[in-house]
Amino acid sequence: MKFFIDTANLDEIKEAHALGVLAGVTTNPSLVAKEKISFEDRLKEITDLVPGSVSAEVISLEAEGMIEEGKKLAEIAPNITVKVPMTPDGLKAVKTFSELGIKTNVTLIFSANQALLAARAGATYVSPFLGRLDDIGQDGLDLISQIAEIFLVHNIETEIIAASIRHPLHITEAALRGAHIATVPYKVIMQLFHHPLTEAGIQKFLEDWEKRTV
Ligand code: E4P
Repeated sequence: MKFFIDTANLDEIKEAHALGVLAGVTTNPSLVAKEKISFEDRLKEITDLVPGSVSAEVISLEAEGMIEEGKKLAEIAPNITVKVPMTPDGLKAVKTFSELGIKTNVTLIFSANQALLAARAGATYVSPFLGRLDDIGQDGLDLISQIAEIFLVHNIETEIIAASIRHPLHITEAALRGAHIATVPYKVIMQLFHHPLTEAGIQKFLEDWEKRTV
């Protein structure tokens, strides 16, 4: 499973990129709005820094508007992936983008059937939202297992991005259940480093080093 970062904040993207683990970036309208900057300028900055897929979401609700927006976004850089909501109009847009060779990420996936439809329309990625399912008392991780199994049985190449990640256990489980990618907030990426035995081990090595006799 690969790591994307789920943010539009350039400092967070730079930090995660420096760790050497970053395969891509996902943004959404809420994340971009927090940054109070031009969406296009920020996408240019992100795509200059990160060579992998950078998801940029359309705002239009009709296919025609999504296609127009998505074409403009895709012109910003070759690694832009157009993010489209899981609706009939969204899938019409995905079909067109697929014919044009523009990569797509179908977002707001909450069922296996939605993922299958998106894949058949030609989506490059589908993004099931784990945390938001957990929030309403459904098991988001079970959805990852279902989609992974369906895609395997039917030889579907669309990649699964585990999204709406809230804590480190989501990462381990998404990886075990066959997600290709997890898009992770910066805070959770940093939580993955921590283990009390690692921290205690470093401390002990340093203490022993200070006591050395030559
Ligand atoms: C995915 O691409 C979305 O940007 C994101 O994971 C949504 O997460 P949230 O439910 O924490 O807003």
